[in-house]
Amino acid sequence: MKKISKLLLAKQSKAPLFDTLLAHAKRDVVSFHCPGHKNGKGIDRELKDYTGEEVYKFDVTVFDEVDSLHDPVGSIKKAQELMAQAYGVEHSFFLVNGSSVGNIAMFLAACDSGDSVIVSRSSHKSIMAGIIMSGVWPIWIQPKIDQNLDLIFNSTYNQVKDALDRYPEAKAVFITSPTYNGIVTELSRIVDLCHRRGKTVLVDEAHGVHLLFNNQLPESAVSAGADLCVQSTHKILSAMSQGSVLHFNSKLVDFNRVKRVVSMLQTTSPNYLILATLDLARRQAFLRGEENFNRVIKAAEWGRAYINDNINSMKCFTRQEVQKLGFDLDVTKLTVNVTKTGLSGYEIESILAKEYNVQLDYADLFNLVAIMSEGSEKSDVEVFVNALENISEKYRGKQKNWILKIPSLATEMVMRPREVFLSNSTKKVSLKKAAGHVAAQTLTPYPPGIPVVIPGERITKEICDYLIDMSSKDIRVSGQETGMLRTVKVFTN
Ligand SMILES: Cc1ncc(COP(=O)(O)O)c(C=O)c1O
Repeated sequence: MKKISKLLLAKQSKAPLFDTLLAHAKRDVVSFHCPGHKNGKGIDRELKDYTGEEVYKFDVTVFDEVDSLHDPVGSIKKAQELMAQAYGVEHSFFLVNGSSVGNIAMFLAACDSGDSVIVSRSSHKSIMAGIIMSGVWPIWIQPKIDQNLDLIFNSTYNQVKDALDRYPEAKAVFITSPTYNGIVTELSRIVDLCHRRGKTVLVDEAHGVHLLFNNQLPESAVSAGADLCVQSTHKILSAMSQGSVLHFNSKLVDFNRVKRVVSMLQTTSPNYLILATLDLARRQAFLRGEENFNRVIKAAEWGRAYINDNINSMKCFTRQEVQKLGFDLDVTKLTVNVTKTGLSGYEIESILAKEYNVQLDYADLFNLVAIMSEGSEKSDVEVFVNALENISEKYRGKQKNWILKIPSLATEMVMRPREVFLSNSTKKVSLKKAAGHVAAQTLTPYPPGIPVVIPGERITKEICDYLIDMSSKDIRVSGQETGMLRTVKVFTN
């Protein structure tokens, strides 16, 4: 365990924003400010009967006592400073619209319109929003697929190096790590390479907010030296939904521009309960991250071993297997491959919810993903694996031969996604005749959940054939505007 000085411990034991809000709530101040429920008095009775009234006293607005998110000088400033200290970065910005807004902010802060950015095609949808809003040219990295594990990986060092060699003009590299399944890439090597070449590294670490606080877990993006990094504190630590953080630690990015962008993108009425839980989640992780995540890791490893040893039709990949492939694994994530059951991940997810009172975060055709975090207990894992064992005995589907595959996505970007987004010169053409046209929409089949058509990109025959095949198999394609995918929107000029 890392040695922490008494002074640092004393500083990190404080939660200045929470303390301020608690003191305010206890004073029962007469409210003539927003929000309209006035310290909970106006909240609907049915909701209040369940939750109690006190919690709504935290839902205040900007005034001197509680500080301002956009121009912090008091307890929000102190809370952000403690967050930055805990993560070892220059500055941390509190976000109240999740990592989605943080991803958009990274593009707008680090890149100018017309710059090019190397980015994996398997990124979260907010990355496309960032690309459109900032007006950059995306240089796509084709995600690697492992058909044994039915998994999609994030960008490797070699892929980034190859892209930088081919596109030396790129301004920045955008990496997602960990993935939804907890796969972590070689971030330190990627950051070193990029910095040697003067490139900015932006990291979507939405699922890795806890990594820094436990020695058994893979390296986090802040330790690896990312210039900007976004974390969903609400996903794995104990902040309320939407509570995220953008960390700044850069000599390449202008700090004041990041500040302006973050302020521009966020509401002027932030929810102070979300902000207070960011302050508390940081304190909890700093003081008890090692102990709490040891507990979570132990429970997750127990579940993984139980499934691998006792349920023949299901399998969880291990850290060793992932390391052999050149990645690392956040072992708190429990991915269960269910292809041998003959049922899809979606079907088992639904059975778990309806019959066993177990709700997962994510499932696809092949896998279930159980996200474990600050609040997870071993007893939860017991309920989950017992349910899986029961399902594997009770239900038996016909073995399917689904294969996880994507067409070649190394296609030509003809226009910037922003130009296409703002243009009205579009028409629909039949998929059979779309090859050669420039796409004016995004189409993302599930699986694999990766966009195969992107605005501004030349559509190839291989992609058309792939989409026609998907649609004949009734695979859901996000972005399609009719019941059956027969056409694609293209640019007309
Ligand atoms: C990899 C990744 N990045 C970003 C996000 C967006 O995070 P948030 O829900 O905090 O906006 C998600 C959400 O699931 C995600 O999986």
